[in-house]
Amino acid sequence: MDDGVLFYAWRDCLFRVPDIVQPPKAGSRFFCHHLSVRAGERVLEIGAGLGLAAVLAARAGAAVVATDVVPAAVTAVRVNAALNGVEVDARLGDCYAPVAGERFDLVCSNPPQMPTPPGADREDAQAAADNGGSDGWALLDRIIAGAPAHLAPRGRLVFTIFDFLGIKTALAKVEAAGLVPSVLARETQSFPRIGHERIAHLRAMDREAALPPGRPATVERLMIEGRAR
Ligand SMILES: C[S@@+](CC[C@H](N)C(=O)[O-])C[C@H]1O[C@@H](n2cnc3c(N)ncnc32)[C@H](O)[C@@H]1O
Repeated sequence: MDDGVLFYAWRDCLFRVPDIVQPPKAGSRFFCHHLSVRAGERVLEIGAGLGLAAVLAARAGAAVVATDVVPAAVTAVRVNAALNGVEVDARLGDCYAPVAGERFDLVCSNPPQMPTPPGADREDAQAAADNGGSDGWALLDRIIAGAPAHLAPRGRLVFTIFDFLGIKTALAKVEAAGLVPSVLARETQSFPRIGHERIAHLRAMDREAALPPGRPATVERLMIEGRAR
């Protein structure tokens, strides 16, 4: 074997990027830029990938639990925490299953959210990183609905969305879960390659008409917060 080893360097940290775990993208950096973590907070990241946000939150002094459904991602989080001299409690499992009965000051996720046309779903790690079910909300809906049972008093849920998932829809879902919704941040990013491949399906799912006509060059990415009352 002579495949080489891929590393990602950011904010004085070094992250090993294993073959089957998605490397950090614009959405990962946007997510980390706007994640405000205080020392001593209990933080849960759902869908941690190789552990970029989890390691940075641990470096800020938080007690971090990071989950993923892909075993190689959970291993990568452990390796990257050790590489950067911090502790992250990395757990394998779906959504909140690995943290049953536990509460956190911050629950956060940059989850898979690309609307997925019939027949395009798969079982591999790449699909787990991107595919968000037919309308993009499959995992997000479960993260939002489960948040109140996993937030400490005055705790907050923070997650990213593409604008074509619907900003009003996102705020309404957070409100319906009993949390106080707001938009924390927004950023214009290049339109994702996989989005071009699925553009007809994205248009069919674009309930708030966020997509421009023609071939979009950019997309708005948003960070949504829901605060426990
Ligand atoms: C878009 S990637 C984000 C990775 C990393 N947090 C980042 O920002 O770069 C989404 C991650 O969620 C994981 N994932 C997918 N479905 C999940 C589920 N049901 N429960 C927990 N994690 C999941 C994927 O394996 C992937 O690592």
